[in-house]
Amino acid sequence: LAALPEGYTCRPIQRTDYHAGFLDVLRVLTTVGDISEEKWNERYDWMKKRNDAYFLLCILDGTGKIVGTGALIVERKFIHNLGLVGHIEDIAVAKDQQGKKLGLRIIQALDYVAEKTGCYKSILDCSEANEGFYVKCGFRRAGLEMAHYY
Ligand code: ACO
Repeated sequence: LAALPEGYTCRPIQRTDYHAGFLDVLRVLTTVGDISEEKWNERYDWMKKRNDAYFLLCILDGTGKIVGTGALIVERKFIHNLGLVGHIEDIAVAKDQQGKKLGLRIIQALDYVAEKTGCYKSILDCSEANEGFYVKCGFRRAGLEMAHYY
């Protein structure tokens, strides 16, 4: 397991993380929008009720600020004898914290949860620019992503 820098911690997200910079870290990934605390709480509570399927992790620096995050969604299938598949989503490390193995640590933690939950594989979509990062995390290119936007 990649060592965290001194004072840093890794844990599941909490309802109060609205105030710890969770959404700001996600902004390095893509558009987040203007999400009120009420809307955050609503979505958080929805996920919490499904905490056997939604695993969201974060890394905090020594001051308690969120500097990295990632999610694992466990999909329940009929095929492969009721197989479970892990979907790794929304991996983000704050710009000024990249290159400290925080991304690697997030993937390792999500991989651990996926395996313990009984997933037979975990999959993700990424850009060509991020392929090298995921290869270092033990993933390999498989298949092709397609999308239909609405
Ligand atoms: N290409 C090739 N290698 C890379 C890349 C890259 N883009 N990024 C990191 N690496 C390498 C590092 O050099 C390191 O290699 P080493 O072990 O030989 O030293 C190894 O991968 C681990 O790197 P970390 O330090 O853990 O990477 P970091 O903490 O910076 O996180 C991440 C990587 C998550 C891609 C970060 O740069 C980021 O947040 N980028 C912006 C948001 C983003 O693109 N997220 C991923 C979207 S895809 C998805 O969510 C499924």
